Parts: sequence; structure tokens; C-alpha cells
Amino acid sequence: MDPIDLRSDTLTLPSPQMREAMAAAELGDDVFAEDPTINRFQEMAAERLGKEAALFTSSGTQSNLVALLTHCGRGAEVIVGDEAHILFFEQGGAWALGGIGLRPVRNDAKGRLDLAEARAKIRPDDDHFPRTGLITVENTHNRCGGAVLDEEDLASVRQLADDHGLPVHMDGARLFNAAVALGVSPASLAAHADSVCFSLSKGLGCPVGSVICGTRDFIREARRNRKLLGGGMRQAGVLAAAGIYALDNMVDRLAEDHENARLAADGLREMPGVSLDPEPQSNLIYFSIEGWDTGVFVERLAEKAVLCFDEGRRRIRWVTHFGIERSHIEEALTRTRETIAAGT
Ligand SMILES: Cc1ncc(COP(=O)(O)O)c(C=O)c1O
Repeated sequence: MDPIDLRSDTLTLPSPQMREAMAAAELGDDVFAEDPTINRFQEMAAERLGKEAALFTSSGTQSNLVALLTHCGRGAEVIVGDEAHILFFEQGGAWALGGIGLRPVRNDAKGRLDLAEARAKIRPDDDHFPRTGLITVENTHNRCGGAVLDEEDLASVRQLADDHGLPVHMDGARLFNAAVALGVSPASLAAHADSVCFSLSKGLGCPVGSVICGTRDFIREARRNRKLLGGGMRQAGVLAAAGIYALDNMVDRLAEDHENARLAADGLREMPGVSLDPEPQSNLIYFSIEGWDTGVFVERLAEKAVLCFDEGRRRIRWVTHFGIERSHIEEALTRTRETIAAGT
């Protein structure tokens, strides 16, 4: 039985064409800002997001931490969603390394911040309190089932931030998924944030990397903070070449991942005990299954070579990505039906 690996879109392997682009990349020392491929990729990324400048980083986690360090001084506080990746999955780097507090605000099922709560949690200017330094949003929203924040959602966060003179950072690890799902440009979504990062190593299919976009001044400071974190890289153009290839060739195909996610959802919905939680909007599918321990269910699926995550909270996660075709989803659904029929 061929394995069908639905654990994550970070499992994508570079295509032969992407590897060729990497092998052919012209290189230099990027700590000297002399890697022509990095420079070209950063210009391209900034242009795609409608920002002045961009900075290549090693990971989404590094991008988010660099952005927080650049927006906030020690002792500042950042408004984050209570389901945010920054809060859950980044080891509290803001606290640990930046002396920056994270102040959670409820995320609704669609990944939006509860704006009334956010407004109430922005600190008044008072000697007793830390200063609020930043509001963050996540698009698409991982723990909220790949939910897509649209321009209206983002404009309302922008308005709140403007009312309090605060910047906005968007963790857009899957921003291109959001743009493709909405049929809008990534720049129209990025326009509502001061800084935006997106990942190369997820749906865009590159082996490594992320990029932060913002104003020229912001990126100059971000570059210092990346170096502080040990993130200055040398002939990293070999990686940025994959990013250039991805921006040219891997964006439109994200629609196939979303189509496959809908196909998976339609199949799962018909199975006894299965509830989608929520309905997928992009390439992440979360579901629960009545009468099963999710850990056991995931093990049984693994025995049938369907690999996926037990997300905790009684949900299972499937992720569609480059390398997963319609036929893989159909086969995964067949094996899932058999698993349920065999019983606990
Ligand atoms: C929304 C979001 N932000 C940030 C990250 C971190 O990216 P990385 O794994 O490259 O550090 C992820 C990774 O899954 C993510 O889903």
C-alpha cells in the first residue's frame, strides 16, 4: 500500500524544476548583502505584497520573532489570538528571548480576533501597566481550521490599531492560500498590516524559508534582529532561488489543494460519526469522529498507510499539498471508510 501523507504541507519536496533553479542560482555572501539571488527574491516578495522591502529568514517562527522584536521593545505587550501559532507553537520566543509579553484575545471559529476584547486589552497609558506595542493576526489561521481572513476582517483590525496608534503584524505563513481562496491579490490582504511574513516551505513547496515584508526602515531594523538571532545566512541564494521559482510557478496551483480539501471534506462528511470542525476554507481539514479516541483512529489509519495528525481537542487534521493528487484523496477516503467499518 502506497503511503498517503496528509500530516502537513511542510512535507512537500522540491520539484525537479525547482531543484534545477536552485542548482543554477548565482550566489554571494548575504551577510554582506551580496547574494544576487537573495536580493532578487526579496525585491520580488516585497513587490508581490505591495511593500517597500523584504527580508529572507530561515523559518516562519524566526520571521514572527524578528517582527515582534522589531516592532516592540522589552517590556511591551503584544495582542495575539488565543489560538495563534505565535502563542502555541513558537516556544514563547517573544517572552523567552525578547522580554515581550503575549496578551491573548479570543479567536472566533473563523480565526478573527474578538475586537471588543482586543480593544479592552489594549493598555491605557499609565505608569502601572506595560505598553501595548503591536496587534497580530494570522491568515490563514492554522488552529482555526485554515480559516481565511478577508479584507473586511483585516480592515476592522487595522481600524482598531489606528485608533490606538499601534502597528499590525500578519503571520501569513499561508497568506498565498488565503489570497487564492478569496481570489484576491496577496497585496490587497497585506495592505492592512505594517509587516507581513509568508512561508516558502509550506504550500509553496520550497525546502526552507520564510520572508518578512514591510517598510524599508522596518526591514533595516529587522535585518539587525535576524542577525541577533543567529539568522544571518551566507550563500542562501540557493534557497531563495526556490522561492523565486515558487512565486512564479507554485501560487496558482494552491487552488488544486483547496479543491482536494473540499473533495476530502465531502467524502468525510458522509461517513458515520464524522463532523467537520470547521468546514475547510483552504488546504487544512479538521474533523472529529464520534465513538473513537482520535489517537487510536490516527494509528488505525497509519496501519492503512494514511498518515495524519491527532490534533488533540478530539480533532484530526488532514492537509492537502503539492504531491497529493485527487486520486490520493479518493484512496485516503476509501481507506478511511474501511477503518470506520472495521470498528474500534
Ligand atoms: C500559521 C503559522 N505560522 C508560523 C508557522 C511557523 O513556521 P515554521 O515551521 O517555518 O517555523 C507555522 C507552521 O506551521 C504556521 O502554521
